Amino acid sequence: MNLTEAFMQSLFAAVGKENVITDKEPLVAYGRDYTEDLQYLPSCAVLPETPETVAAVLKLCNENKIPVYTRGAGTGLSGGSLPVNGGVVISTEKLNRILNIDTLNFQATVQPGVINQVFAQAVAEKGLYYPPDPASKGSCFLGGNIAHGSGGPRAVKYGTTRDYVLNLQVALPNGELIWTGANTVKNSTGFNLTQLFVGSEGLLGVVTCIVFRLIALPAHQMLLLVPFKTAREAAVAVNEVLLSGITPSALELMETSGVQISAEATHTPFPFHNDAAFYMLIELDGDNTETLMQQAELLYPVIENCGGLEVMFADSSELKEQWWKVRRGIGETVKQASVYKEEDTVVPRAALPDLLVAVKEVGSRYGFQSVCYGHAGDGNLHVNILKNELSDEVWNHEIPKAIREIFEVCRDLGGTISGEHGVGLVQKPYLDVVFTPQHFRLMRGIKAVFDPNHIMNPGKWLD
Ligand code: LAC
Ligand code: ZN
Repeated sequence: MNLTEAFMQSLFAAVGKENVITDKEPLVAYGRDYTEDLQYLPSCAVLPETPETVAAVLKLCNENKIPVYTRGAGTGLSGGSLPVNGGVVISTEKLNRILNIDTLNFQATVQPGVINQVFAQAVAEKGLYYPPDPASKGSCFLGGNIAHGSGGPRAVKYGTTRDYVLNLQVALPNGELIWTGANTVKNSTGFNLTQLFVGSEGLLGVVTCIVFRLIALPAHQMLLLVPFKTAREAAVAVNEVLLSGITPSALELMETSGVQISAEATHTPFPFHNDAAFYMLIELDGDNTETLMQQAELLYPVIENCGGLEVMFADSSELKEQWWKVRRGIGETVKQASVYKEEDTVVPRAALPDLLVAVKEVGSRYGFQSVCYGHAGDGNLHVNILKNELSDEVWNHEIPKAIREIFEVCRDLGGTISGEHGVGLVQKPYLDVVFTPQHFRLMRGIKAVFDPNHIMNPGKWLD
């Protein structure tokens, strides 16, 4: 898409010429994210330094009907930020300040371009806890976490990004800046615009400031690792652990092939068990180590009864870091190992064994290898489908049918097609598995109220 000279001059005036990127070479980085190897080229990228400037850019694009793609750190896995129609990318990278940490009210006010882990560390220094921890926490932006309602391992005990957002400042396509709610943990005043923006994937407006709720920081964490011989035993054990009455702060499953790829690629030692098809990571947290020990002891017989081959205990912070590093590295390292597609399936937790069996059954019928891992305690299973030796023909025409079958299983089990990565671009062809025409009508109606000219993230799932 070619932008007119007059438009560019207005853009320079609104945001400052130094904050507009038009050269092709640096622009390339603004046209991709972590989704497969997808790449698009925007006409330009703007890097606003204030919420007011974001609003001014939106107004200008709206008046000229120019597509706008909002972008955080580009760690998304559904292609949500990709500028598929060209136009303007708004990067939030310069809106990167923590404005206030309110230790009296357990709240913090931050800009959307703050990195998740930087924020979590800053509040931890004040004894507070921001639990949502996507695998990309070391680089992803909080604004992107809001755009997708991101989760992470700790969601099983603490919930997802959504559960910590109290209030949002958003810039609307017409150039208005509004706050969506109030800085209160309770709010029964009107429609919940705040939660409407969480997970809205840049389709309604741009988040320019965030007020988060925080909680007290637990003092200790304990990490256990359990190998299982079969996928079913591991998945059933997830349920039994939670039914024991103990709520771990993480309850993750990892298929051995994924652990091998990640451990090798990240050069991280890992205590492999010869008979293991799956590994379970169980993290317990709290303020008292004795209580954590007691909880672990209560879990031992539960795990044994479910077929756990042994229970390993990370008795140093180094081991804890290693096991987590291997877990967090799976997505990225599997991607390096083969062309792949990553699905973000989610079902009610107790249906996880059925989902796992179904994924493998579909895989053997269509002849693909999958690496399954993820947030088992949430019923959220990442399914990485590897291309390996499959022909382009099979990859492009048969595998989408297999993915559709997997999504139909999710739906039939009471689940849906994405738990935390969003719909974005790559799940768009499958949305009819879970949405009816009525869903689309309602969602399009909502979008039209905010974005009547359809400038926000066009080409994605809500066209
Ligand atoms: C993870 C990302 C892929 O859980 O969501 O590793
Ligand atoms: Zn995940």
